[in-house]
Parts: sequence; structure tokens; C-alpha cells
Amino acid sequence: MRAMVYRGPYKIRVEEKDIPKIEHPNDAIVRVTRAAICGSDLHLYHGMMPDTRVGTTFGHEFIGVVHEVGPSVENLAVGDRVMVPFNIYCGTCYFCRKGLYSNCHNVNPNATAVGGIYGYSHTCGGYDGGQAEFVRVPLADVGPSIIPEGLHDEDALLMTDALATGYFGAQLGDIVEGDTVVVFGAGPVGLFAARSAWLMGAGRVIVVDHLDYRLQKAREFAFAETVSFTEVDDIVLELKKQTDWLGADVVIDAVGAEADGNLVQHITAAKFKLQGGSPVALNWAIDSVRKGGTISVMGAYGPLFSAVKFGDAMNKGLTIRTNQAPAKRQWPRLLEHIQAGRLSPRDIITHRIPLEHIADGYHLFSAKLDNCIKTVITTN
Ligand SMILES: NC(=O)c1ccc[n+]([C@@H]2O[C@H](COP(=O)([O-])OP(=O)(O)OC[C@H]3O[C@@H](n4cnc5c(N)ncnc54)[C@H](O)[C@@H]3O)[C@@H](O)[C@H]2O)c1
Ligand SMILES: [Zn+2]
Ligand SMILES: [Zn+2]
Repeated sequence: MRAMVYRGPYKIRVEEKDIPKIEHPNDAIVRVTRAAICGSDLHLYHGMMPDTRVGTTFGHEFIGVVHEVGPSVENLAVGDRVMVPFNIYCGTCYFCRKGLYSNCHNVNPNATAVGGIYGYSHTCGGYDGGQAEFVRVPLADVGPSIIPEGLHDEDALLMTDALATGYFGAQLGDIVEGDTVVVFGAGPVGLFAARSAWLMGAGRVIVVDHLDYRLQKAREFAFAETVSFTEVDDIVLELKKQTDWLGADVVIDAVGAEADGNLVQHITAAKFKLQGGSPVALNWAIDSVRKGGTISVMGAYGPLFSAVKFGDAMNKGLTIRTNQAPAKRQWPRLLEHIQAGRLSPRDIITHRIPLEHIADGYHLFSAKLDNCIKTVITTN
């Protein structure tokens, strides 16, 4: 089969690989029909994620058709169209029983924090991902769901990560009716978080980024007010000014460890790896939320120390809520919103690229060229 293969930072290729085999009775092999490139894949692509091994295949946002099932699989049959949440999880451990699917204890030998994620390095279990013609889906009775009749493939695809994560980001903000919600980052996760904030009762939604074409999307798709952080002297002051000098009730970080906006932080984190990530967006969140407010962190960070203003967070009495999204937990509500016509997730897709040209897809998305927001990878 053809598969995206990692060869080192900024180097990916499409190569021939063996079609994965059933390794456990509850495995399924899925023929991938659509995959996407996530902002999290960029951390891998940039060499930011520890233990990203040469030869592995990325891709944790995908849908497909069941090609083969192991002998104990009961919920899926060959030929079913399935959407597969980006988390791999057992469904029965202490953490899964609490709904913390992204923190499953049984799927990753390094599972002190994160559980299993498809195509996300050996730090997340070492599973190959879905940017390929076929993918092995472990615990096939637990994660995947049959795509409901009438749901568009691209909407189903976005439910497997970006949409579920944005929605979860808004949920973790504990938004109360009328709240002012600030979202840092106008990528797919930020756009979906901003849109979801309205569904949860927000009174105002403000999106911050520095890419004008993405801010325009935030206005059109997420009906948000927008601020470009490069067009104001001090983004924190600007947000305070816009929120009666008190600060926002809720701030969502949809940027993560590769945040721009402060050269020193960017260089010490991204270039010299002296920090687990650039804490710029997180620190702006801490500074621009009001005292007693809530910060929801969807942006991904590495495990190492970063210069986060934790003392300010403590002394302001903030609630900080975080996690990798347990994607499947959001599906029932998201389906309702899509089926009721309140949400058309695929409106954020800007590029559709054949698997064979996936390297171009990574380059476009990484360098934010050609007004790229979300790229879908198509297979034959
Ligand atoms: N928690 C989860 O389950 C989960 C799931 C998916 C993605 N993520 C993470 O969410 C983050 C966003 O993902 P995405 O797909 O939207 O990525 P993306 O790269 O498309 O979007 C990030 C956006 O942040 C903007 N940005 C950079 N620095 C900023 C700053 N200081 N302030 C405001 N905006 C800034 C960029 O210009 C870009 O538009 C990534 O860190 C990704 O790893 C987490
Ligand atoms: Zn992702
Ligand atoms: Zn589990």
C-alpha cells in the first residue's frame, strides 16, 4: 500500500509499505478513504515531539471502510463505513470508565499522561496512523463508529479530531450564558472552539491570530470579533480594553507549543528546545482572562518546563482545564448540531490533496501558504 512516511524533520515521503495485519483478535483493518492533516501533525513534522521514529506513518484524523476484522470484533463488519476517533483506548480501565478516553491506561507503555494516539510517535504508543491506504485499528469494538446515514464524509472526518477538539475546548471553558470568550488561534481547532462557544451560550466571542485570512474565516464561519496580535502594541492590553478592563470570562488556547508573538520564547522553544514549547499563547491567556476566570487549553504542549506564568494564574484564582480531547464523547451532541443544520464543519476545508502529494499538503499547512486552513487527504 501507499503510505506517508516520516524521514526526519520537514522530510516526509510517500512510500510502499505492507498492508497492516490483524495483530490482536479485536483489531480491524480499515481502508482509509479520507484523512486530514492536523495542527498536531505539524509538531511532529517540525521535530518537536520526542520519540518520533523514522519510518512511521502519521495521521490521527481519518475515516474509511472496514477491510478486515479480527475474530472477536462484534460491532463492525467488513464493508462498514467508519469514523475513527483519534484516541486509541480500551474503554474499561479506571480512566476510560471516567470518560477520560485520551488518558487510557492500557494502550501506551508510556501512559503516565497521554494514552494512545494514531500516528503520533512512540510517546503516544507507537501506532501507525491513517495517512495511508490502510490502517490497523486496535480495540475496534471501542473507538470507531459506523458513519450515520446522511452524514457527509468530510463532516465525519472532522468529527474524529478538529471539530470534537474545538467543541471540547469550549466545554472545558464552562461557559455561562452571556460570557465573553476569547479564543487564541484561528486554525481549525480555534475556529471550531469559537463556533461552539455560541452553542454553549457565549455572549461575545473574540478570536486572536495574526493571519488575516484566518481571522476573516473566524468572522465568517464563527461569527466572531477578531483581533490581529501584530496590529496592536500589546494584545493583553487590547483585550482588557475590549472587556471593560476586567478581562474575558473564558479564554481558550487553541495555539499550543509553537506559538508566535515573542521571538525569545519562540527561539528558545522551537529552535533550541530549551523549553517544552513556546508559552506565549498560554501566558497571554493567563494575562487576558479576568480574575477567577477559566482557561481551557486545547493547544498541545510538550512535557518539559516552559516559562509559564503559573504564579499569576495562581494568584488570579484561575481555573485551568486541559486535555487531549476524548473525541468520541462529543459525537452525540455534534451529530445533533450537524443534523439540525446548525453547523457545517466542512466549510473550513481549504485543500483536498491526493495521498501521493501529501508532502505538498504538509508544506502548505506548515508555512500557512495559499490561505491554507484545513487539508483533506484523498486516497483512490
Ligand atoms: N487537545 C487536543 O485534543 C488537540 C487536538 C487537535 C489539535 N490540538 C492542538 O491544537 C492546536 C491548534 O491546532 P490547529 O489544527 O488549529 O493548528 P493550526 O496550526 O492550524 O492553528 C494554530 C493557529 O495559531 C496561530 N497562532 C500562533 N501563535 C499565536 C499566538 N501567540 N496567539 C494567537 N494565535 C497564534 C497560528 O497563526 C495558527 O493560525 C495545536 O497545538 C494542536 O496540536 C490539540
Ligand atoms: Zn489532531
Ligand atoms: Zn482505558
